[in-house]
Parts: sequence; structure tokens; C-alpha cells
Amino acid sequence: MQIKQIPLPIFVQDYSAVKPYLETLHLPQHTDLEEYFFKYPEISWECLKHIKIIEMNEEALKFSGATNVNGFTAALPQLFTNTLHKALQKILIAILTHQAKIEVEAQAVTLNGKFRDIILNWKLHPDYSESLEVATISIFDITELKKLQDNLTQQTAIRTKEQHQTEKQRQPHQQQMNRIEHLNSMGELTSSLAHQLNQPLAIISSYAQETCRRLNDNDIQHQHHELINAAQKIALHANRAGEIVNRLREFFSMKPLQKQPEDVNQIIKGTILFLKQEYNISKKLISLTLDSKIPQILLDRTQIEQVLFNILQNAFDAVESKKAKDAKITISTAANNNALIVTISDTGVGVSEQILDNIFEPFFTTKSNGMGLGLAICRSIISAHDGQIIVSSIEGKGMQFKLTLPI
Ligand SMILES: Nc1ncnc2c1ncn2[C@@H]1O[C@H](COP(=O)(O)OP(=O)(O)O)[C@@H](O)[C@H]1O
Ligand SMILES: [Mg+2]
Repeated sequence: MQIKQIPLPIFVQDYSAVKPYLETLHLPQHTDLEEYFFKYPEISWECLKHIKIIEMNEEALKFSGATNVNGFTAALPQLFTNTLHKALQKILIAILTHQAKIEVEAQAVTLNGKFRDIILNWKLHPDYSESLEVATISIFDITELKKLQDNLTQQTAIRTKEQHQTEKQRQPHQQQMNRIEHLNSMGELTSSLAHQLNQPLAIISSYAQETCRRLNDNDIQHQHHELINAAQKIALHANRAGEIVNRLREFFSMKPLQKQPEDVNQIIKGTILFLKQEYNISKKLISLTLDSKIPQILLDRTQIEQVLFNILQNAFDAVESKKAKDAKITISTAANNNALIVTISDTGVGVSEQILDNIFEPFFTTKSNGMGLGLAICRSIISAHDGQIIVSSIEGKGMQFKLTLPI
């Protein structure tokens, strides 16, 4: 095939004079050629003078804006852009390292001053691989392709920006979603509340009906004892239903935190005093290891007291139901750089691993008279203080709660 027929700009060149010139340089072996040509750009400029252009096809003339080979050769030094100079250095390196072809991306400038992005393909004719008399350069003009790619990149950038914006617009939507999620969990809570209340209410109703039935009986005297018993049950379960409602109201009407600098050790001591008034607690049951050097921290005293009370109450229940003689509840305080840590451990019944996952769920309880709200309340109070509750347990051995509060 003749180069005339090839629909790409083709330049046929003769590099035979380049070789003897390169040999005069006496380049030591293992020279870093790229670094060498970078350091001595005059050498590649000098080489350019030794390259002869034998032929150019119509496409090459059209591409360069020249009318013939001589005109092009004369104008060549002006047409040499930095990237073409780099391409020439790569060709020289190929010659020195016996590579038969290379491909480089460069920018060319035409005689009428237009810049074109090109892929330049240099190939040594296999019959002249030693003499370097015939090599071809073919040009693939990628200017339009590059423009298209740049446009696409820009469009992608715009699209990414738009996406960011829609994401921003989505934020209120996200808040709405959070609210819906919150409502869903409220819904779950309400249905478990209904379930919880149904039980005492059903008991109340059945005892009340039974009482009425017996009161209608003629032999009231004889049934005196059963009637008192039924009335007591009614009162008990009505109280329980009321208590559930009250605890839940507490849970939901959590007032805004009223934070003040407080001494956690003092709060712990106060809570234990309060617990002792409520329960019959032996002197030896509770032991304290309080670090007197912990700093005061900002917290809502009433709420933290409630947390400690709930956890201690559970610990007390746990050691009570185990009925071990050497039962212990240990409370310790400590501080590190950024947090205050309160650890409450007991030697009670503990829970299994599966149960441990559920104990913070509202209404989860393993106690016959339990309500399952204590720990749910603790968790929400501690997270409102930006703190954490870490819990661990060995079934049959005990339980440990670690409260972390930021300093
Ligand atoms: N110190 C503890 N030892 C063993 N089990 C515990 C302890 N603390 C909590 N639990 C378990 O977590 C459950 C939930 O506790 P809580 O939310 O306070 O509700 P409640 O005390 O009304 O059951 C308890 O029923 C119990 O199974
Ligand atoms: Mg409890």
C-alpha cells in the first residue's frame, strides 16, 4: 500500500545521519537517557538537523498546512512544540535502545498556528533497522476526541455537583425520614405498652367481675375472705397499670437537661443512701472504690441519679434472686483524659449472651414483676449526656455496667 492512500498524515524520514552523530557523544553504558536528554536539550535539537524528511502524504501536508516537503522542513523548527521535542527525545532513546516503534501523545502546531492534540506513531522500517534510512511517523489527530472527552469530564463534574446539591436538598427529607423512623419506634412502643397494660387490666376486670358475682350471692358472710383477696388483687394490678403509665410518661417527658458541674462520687453516695431507705440492704453488700481525684463534670444530677438508681436496683434484684451469702455490689469511679468512668458490678444471677442483647429494649424484662423500662431509660439519659453504657455479663456469676461520661 502506498502512503498516499493511507487516510492519516504520514511522514517518511531518514535517520541515517542521526546515528553517527549520537555515536560521537560516547554515551557511557547505563546512562539514564531520559535524564540525559532532559539535561542536554541541545543534543536533541542538534539531532533534528540530522533527520531528513523524504516524503509526506497529502494528509500530512493538509495537517501541517505546508504545500510541499521543503516548505515543511524549513518551517520545522518553528513547529516544534515542547511535547514534540519530548517525542523526538523518545525516538532518539528508541534508536539508542534498539526499539523499532514507539507511540507518544503530543501537541503539534500547524503552519497556520492551530494547535492539534495528536498521537504520534514512530516506526522503523524492518529492512532498515540498522541503517535507519527509513522510518515513518503517522499522526492520529485526537483534538476533537479530546474536546469530547473534556466535555464529558466537565459534564460529569457538573452532574456530580448537581448530585451534591440534590443530596443537600434531600437533607430535610432525611430529617423527615428520621422523624418517621422515630414515629415507627413510638408506634412499636405504644403497641408494647398496650400489651403490657392489657395484662393488669384484664386481671382487674376479671377480679372485679368475680367480686360482683360473689356480692350478689346470698352467703356473703361465708365468702368474706375471698372478697378481700379479690379486692386486694384489683388494687394491686390497677396500681401496676398506673405505674406503667407513669414510668412511660417519665420516659417520654424527659425534660431538657439541666447541666451543672457535679461531683459524681457525691451523687453515687447520695443514691446509695436513697436505695438503703427503699430496700433492706446489708452493710456488707455494697463496696465503693471511688477515686477522689476525679474532676467535676457537667451533668443533670437528677437524671444521673435515676440512672444509678435503676442500675443499682437491678443489681440488688440480681444478687437477691441468687441468694448467695457472699453477694457483692461494687461501684468504682475513675477518669482518663477525656472521660469519667463509673463501673457497677454485681455477683448476681447475670444473664446469658442472647439476653444481654435485649436488656436495653423497652419492656424487656425477665422478672415476674418487672417493667423492663429501667435500662431503656438509663440508655437514653446517658446518650443525652453524650456518654456510653457498656455492659458485660457471665450467666450465674454477675453483671457489669460501665458508664462513660465525657469530661
Ligand atoms: N444486674 C443485673 N443482673 C442480671 N440481669 C440484669 C441486671 N440488670 C438488668 N438485668 C436484666 O435486664 C432486664 C431489664 O432490666 P430493666 O430495664 O431495668 O427492667 P426490669 O428491672 O424492670 O426488668 C432485667 O429484667 C434483667 O433480665
Ligand atoms: Mg430494672
